[in-house]
Amino acid sequence: MDFKGRDIISIRDFKKDEILYVLRMAKGMEEKKLPELLKGKVLATLFFEPSTRTRLSFESAMSKLGGKVIGFADTSITSISKGESLSDTIRIVEGYSDAIVMRHPVEGAARLAAEAASIPIINGGDGSNQHPTQTFLDLYTILKTKKTLNNLHIGFLGDLKYGRTVHSLVDAMSHFNARMYFISPESLRMPEDLLEELKAKGIKFVEETDLLKVSGSLDVLYNTRIQKERFPDELEYKKVKGAYRLDKGFLSHIKPDLKILHPLPRVDELSPELDSTPNAVYFEQAKNGIPVREALLALVLGAVK
Ligand code: CP
Repeated sequence: MDFKGRDIISIRDFKKDEILYVLRMAKGMEEKKLPELLKGKVLATLFFEPSTRTRLSFESAMSKLGGKVIGFADTSITSISKGESLSDTIRIVEGYSDAIVMRHPVEGAARLAAEAASIPIINGGDGSNQHPTQTFLDLYTILKTKKTLNNLHIGFLGDLKYGRTVHSLVDAMSHFNARMYFISPESLRMPEDLLEELKAKGIKFVEETDLLKVSGSLDVLYNTRIQKERFPDELEYKKVKGAYRLDKGFLSHIKPDLKILHPLPRVDELSPELDSTPNAVYFEQAKNGIPVREALLALVLGAVK
C-alpha cells in the first residue's frame, strides 16, 4: 500500500484495509527503533488552537525518527497576525518543510490547506469536524486493550455535538460492526446527519441521557470533555457543565473488563481516582500517539510502504 504524498484530512478518506494497515505499521514502530528513518525530513507544525498531546507527540515522533520540526503554536508571533491568509501561509511553509500538521478552529480548514499545498497536510483537528490521527491512536488503543476491533459495544459520553474526536471515531468504528451508545445531555446529542449516515449503513445505535442505563452493556467507554470554547453562548455551557462525572462508584455499574478511553484534556468528567484502575487506559492512549504518528509520518513521507 502506498501512502506517499497522501493528505490525512478525515478518517472517512481511509478504507477499512487502509486503517488496519496503518495500525499494523504503528505496531511495527512500537517494536523497533528507527532513528535514521526520516533523517533530512522537516515537519512543520502549525497550531492555530491550543494543543499538548497532538503537537508534542508529532514533534516527538518526528525526532525519534531522525527528522526535524519547525512551526508555531501561537499565531500572534506570525504574519497571520498581519492578515496573511491561510492559503498563503501554507504555500510559504511548504517551501520550508516536507509535511505540515495543522490544527485550526474552522471546520474544513485542513481540506483548504491541502488544496493549497503540494506536500502532505495532516489534520490535527479542524473545529468540531475531524481529528483523524487521534482516531488512529484511539483504534490502536482499543485493539491493544480489547484484542479486537470487531463487534464491540462502545459508548460515547459527554460532548457528542462538538466533539471532533467522537465524530472521527464513530466513522471509523462503523467499519467494525460496532454497536454504539450515544450518552449525552439533550443539547449535546450527536449531529443528526451523522446519525442518519449510521442508519443508512445499518449500524445499530441508541441515544441515552442516563449513563447507568447502558453502562453495563459496554466493552469500551469513550468519555469526552464538554468543550466550553465551542459554545456560542456561555449560559448554554453552564446548563450542561458537570453533567457526567466518572468516579470509583461508577465501577459497580460496568463489566469488569470495560476500558475507559478519553482523548484528554479532562476537566471534571473523569475523577483521578480512576487513573490507577485497570479500566483506565487514557494515559496509555495518549502515549500510543507516538507509534501511531511515527507510522503516519513515515507513510506519507514515503519512508515505508
Ligand atoms: N487529544 C488531543 O487532541 O489533545 P490536545 O488538544 O492536547 O492535542
